[in-house]
Amino acid sequence: ASDALVIFTPSGKRGRFAVGTPVLTAARQLGVDLDSVCGGRGICSKCQVSPGVGAFPKHGVTVAADALSDWNAVEQRYKDKRGMLDGRRLGCQAKVMGDVVIDVPPESQLHRQVVRKAASARVVQMDPATRLYYVEVAEPDMHEPSGDLERLALALKDQWQIEAIEAGPSVLRKLQPVLRKGKWSVTAAVFRDHHGGAAKLLDVFPGFYDGPLAGLAIDLGSTTIAAHLCDLRDGRVLASGGVMNPQIRFGEDLMSRVSYAMMNPGGDVEMTASVRDALNALAISVAAEAVIDPRAIMETVVVCNPVMHHLFLGIDPVELGQAPFALATSSSLSLPARDLGLSAINAEARLYTLPCIAGHVGADAAAVALSEAPQLRDELVLIVDVGTNAEILLGNKKRVLACSSPTGPAFEGAQISSGQRAAPGAIERIEIDPETKEPRFRVIGSDLWSDEPGFAEATAHTGITGICGSGIIEAVAELRMAGIVDAAGLMGAPAQTGTERSVAEGRTYSYLIHDGSAQNGPRITVTQGDIRAIQLAKSALYAGARLLMDEMGVDHIDHVVLAGAFGAHISAKHAMVLGMIPDCPLDNVTSAGNAAGTGARIALCNIAARAGIEAQVKQIHKVETAIEPRFQEHFVNASAMPHAVDSFPHLST
Ligand code: FES
Repeated sequence: ASDALVIFTPSGKRGRFAVGTPVLTAARQLGVDLDSVCGGRGICSKCQVSPGVGAFPKHGVTVAADALSDWNAVEQRYKDKRGMLDGRRLGCQAKVMGDVVIDVPPESQLHRQVVRKAASARVVQMDPATRLYYVEVAEPDMHEPSGDLERLALALKDQWQIEAIEAGPSVLRKLQPVLRKGKWSVTAAVFRDHHGGAAKLLDVFPGFYDGPLAGLAIDLGSTTIAAHLCDLRDGRVLASGGVMNPQIRFGEDLMSRVSYAMMNPGGDVEMTASVRDALNALAISVAAEAVIDPRAIMETVVVCNPVMHHLFLGIDPVELGQAPFALATSSSLSLPARDLGLSAINAEARLYTLPCIAGHVGADAAAVALSEAPQLRDELVLIVDVGTNAEILLGNKKRVLACSSPTGPAFEGAQISSGQRAAPGAIERIEIDPETKEPRFRVIGSDLWSDEPGFAEATAHTGITGICGSGIIEAVAELRMAGIVDAAGLMGAPAQTGTERSVAEGRTYSYLIHDGSAQNGPRITVTQGDIRAIQLAKSALYAGARLLMDEMGVDHIDHVVLAGAFGAHISAKHAMVLGMIPDCPLDNVTSAGNAAGTGARIALCNIAARAGIEAQVKQIHKVETAIEPRFQEHFVNASAMPHAVDSFPHLST
């Protein structure tokens, strides 16, 4: 026969092709997801496939051993030079000779999955704005004068159907030497996002470039800044890191930073500079951890609350400090990162911020919505992203509501006497025996509990340095369950609590978790002040959630998702004992880790997700906690543990 049946797996796409058709061509015509950076020149090996041989009853074909053409010189040269796994072929070189079943392995899939969220059945695929394209560029010709950039643009158009391209000054500076060094073959890093418009040439590399191509997803919180460095080709997280937000010295929470800007001329400029410095330092440190050049970072996605958003962009946040809390812009932004002082990364790198939802509900809440997708659920889900400001979403397929609530930094371990950022050495889990009132705990960096053999050796390198956010939440809940703290949050004297671990400090009592003297480390206690800070934080969180329930007209919820930048995942029971969240079946309380960071990562890897969230935020109904009188009422009632009025039937089970 002069044509052959070609079946691709796992997609199951099939079609008949003339004998001699390259596998890559067949894949493209069928819309099969098969990668290529070099455009079929046998250089990049992104097009690798695994042809099957033998009978495939499921597909109704038998594949002969010679269903694909023999190895040609190009394919053989690639295999000899770079090596290939047994059974693999280069899809651009191997030609279809007979009926064949061809498997596309995950690493050859252009849209391989990056984030799979089991709870919401969400699958996110790679579809980044920045990609690499290998091109062969025409040499200059005196008789047909045209610039090197114009000939590169022509090559990108002919070989990759990229229409118009713009180049910034730093690329133009290196373009000529790179073209000549690569003997008129170069790899171009090209940015094209969902807004259309001219493609942007971000960088050029001589010849075929197979080095790193990275993006940085940043969750810019008021207290902590977390960053994931991601490979823009396959979505892998190459390194993660975090730092304290240096703006803390201008004010612990958002409103005190807004007042700093109001009281001090130039205060906003100072705060802008300090956060940009921190982001540059963080970019350098995560790049170092991944052992890549920070200039390989071509894109960043930043999510943050509105005040951080304005301060990072260099906009005075004063309007956000007073009703009606008008944002300078609520739209997403796509800008050159250098315009925002991000000088440590590629000079042409792009920056994307997610849209803000409202004056108090920021791009971080949008990122949580992107990651947790309440609008796709049948059941009513409450999503709380706990930070210095809590982002709260309540909704399902029918309707999604959002608000933010000023919890303060206690849940992140700040304003806690022994508090610290979630980092090795921090206590992240704690249990208190209700009989003996003795504690046992675990620190980040070790899997052992403090009463298990080998704990001292396992923690010798980190020490026991403090308590992180999840640790302090568990500690206060455990103190409550052990009867050391009463429902009003008061810690008793040893005579009442029955333990010498209740120690007097001034006029109140503290609970001694760890006496650091043996390790020469800090003494770690939970003080009455710490309990008050947690009570305030949890009351604000609960009151925000209740406000949304009022607005929705419901008195119970089906599912709670706890998210936040705290170290470990928060246990459902502890969160409910504290009364951080409304009652709900304990099994339906799940942890999402740093959902805002995940949302930033999704937006980094998939431009359709950016378009999707831009449309979706317009559908989210905002509730303004700051001007809602019932918020105060809910807040006061929520101060008791778990609550003064509301019942928690699922706690007794
Ligand atoms: Fe690059 Fe096949 S497409 S090697």
